[in-house]
Amino acid sequence: MTAILHGNIIHAPQFGTLEMIPNGYLVLEDGVLAECCAALPQRYAGLPVTDYGNALIMPSFADLHLHAPQYPMLGMGMDLPLLEWLDAYTFRTEARFADLDYARRVYRQLAQDLISSGTTRVSAFASRHTDAALVLMEELERAGVAGYVGKVNMDRNAGPSQEETGESVAETLRWLENCRFELVKPILTPRFTPSCSDRLMEELGKIARERDLPVQSHLSENTGEIAWVRELHPGCGQYWETYDQYGLWKERTLMAHCVHSDAREQEAMVRAGVWAVHCAASNVNLCSGTAPVRELLENGVQVALGSDIAGGDQLAMNRVAVMSIRASKLKSMETGKPFLTVPEAYYLSSTAGHLYFGGGAGFQAGHKLHAVVVDDSAMPEPARELTLAERFERCIYLMEKRHIKAVYSEGVNRI
Ligand code: GUN
Ligand code: FE
Repeated sequence: MTAILHGNIIHAPQFGTLEMIPNGYLVLEDGVLAECCAALPQRYAGLPVTDYGNALIMPSFADLHLHAPQYPMLGMGMDLPLLEWLDAYTFRTEARFADLDYARRVYRQLAQDLISSGTTRVSAFASRHTDAALVLMEELERAGVAGYVGKVNMDRNAGPSQEETGESVAETLRWLENCRFELVKPILTPRFTPSCSDRLMEELGKIARERDLPVQSHLSENTGEIAWVRELHPGCGQYWETYDQYGLWKERTLMAHCVHSDAREQEAMVRAGVWAVHCAASNVNLCSGTAPVRELLENGVQVALGSDIAGGDQLAMNRVAVMSIRASKLKSMETGKPFLTVPEAYYLSSTAGHLYFGGGAGFQAGHKLHAVVVDDSAMPEPARELTLAERFERCIYLMEKRHIKAVYSEGVNRI
C-alpha cells in the first residue's frame, strides 16, 4: 500500500548537517520510505495525501539507555551521588517489579509516554525479574516502540534486587526462550562490574558468544565507581577490561556514560566497535561529571544519546539533546573544544540511534519510516517569520507532547 505524507521535511543524514525540504513529500510503500522529495512524482498523482500542512516532519528519536523500572522514581533522590543513590532508591524501587501487576501498570505508562514523546527506538534495562522484563517487551511492542530490552543481571552489591549466580544465569536462559517479539529483541545486561561476579560475567560472555547477542552496561560513570572497580579487579588495567576479559566488550556493545574514559579506553572502544551512550542529564544530576563528547567523536567512538531515567529526569529525547548541548558548553569553557550544535545534538539523539539498530540515515529510502510530526503553531508567536532551520531549533528546545501531532514507528502511524 502507498501512503504519502506532506509537510516541511527536516532530517540530519550526516553528523552536523541538516537537510530541509519545505513543502516536501514522503512516499511510503508498505511503511518503507520510497521517496523523500520536493515535488510529488507524476506516478503518485491522484493518490490520497496525508497533509500535515505547515507542520515539521522529522525523524523520530532513539533512546539508547534508560532504566524502565526506575520510571516510578523519576525526579527523586537527585541530591545523592551514584552509589548512594543506587542503595537508597534504585535497588528498592526495582525490587517492586517482582509484582507483575505493578510492572504492567508502570511499563504501559512508560511505553505510552515514550511513543507520545516521539521516541520510537530504545535500548532499555528492565529489572532482574524475568517475567517483568517480558511484560516490558510486550508493552513496548504494543505501543510500537522498537529496539532492545535486557533482563538485568546482578549477583552482588545489589541490596534487595540481588540474585544468586546460578539463578541469574538460569533466569536469563528462561527469559531468552520466551522473547518472541517482532519489534523488541533481547540484549544481555550485566548491570555494571560492581554488581556482577566473575562467574556471572563469564557465563554471560558465553551466552553472548553462543547466541550472538548484543550487550549493554555502564562504564566509567563516576570516580567512586571507578575506584571500586579497580579494587574488585586489581588484575585489570582499566574498567573496560573487566568486560573485555569475559567477551562482553565487542561490536555493538552499548556502554552508558564513559564520562571518565581516557584516550586508552576510547581507543579500546573504537577497536572493538563499542558504542558510548551519552546521558548528560544523569551525569549532572548525580554529579558524575561532564562527558568528553567532542573528544569521543573526534577519536572515532560511535556515540548516541540516552535519557538514563531515572538518573536522568527527562524522558523526552529533545530535552536530552538540549541537556547534552548545555553540558558540552560547560565542557567547552573548560577545554576550548567546540560545543555540540543543535544539528549535531539532534543527530546524536536520532540518526545515530537509528543507525545503531540498522535503520536509515535520516529519511533514507529503503528503510521503515520512523518520524515525528511537530506543530509549532502554539509556541510563542515569533517577532518575525522564522526560517525552517530556526523553527527546527525552537522545536528541539521547546517541543512538548502537546506539539506532537503524529508519530510513525516501523512504518506504522502509532499516534
Ligand atoms: N550504574 C549501575 N546501575 C546504574 C543505574 O541504575 N543508573 C546509573 N546512572 N548508573 C548505574
Ligand atoms: Fe544507567
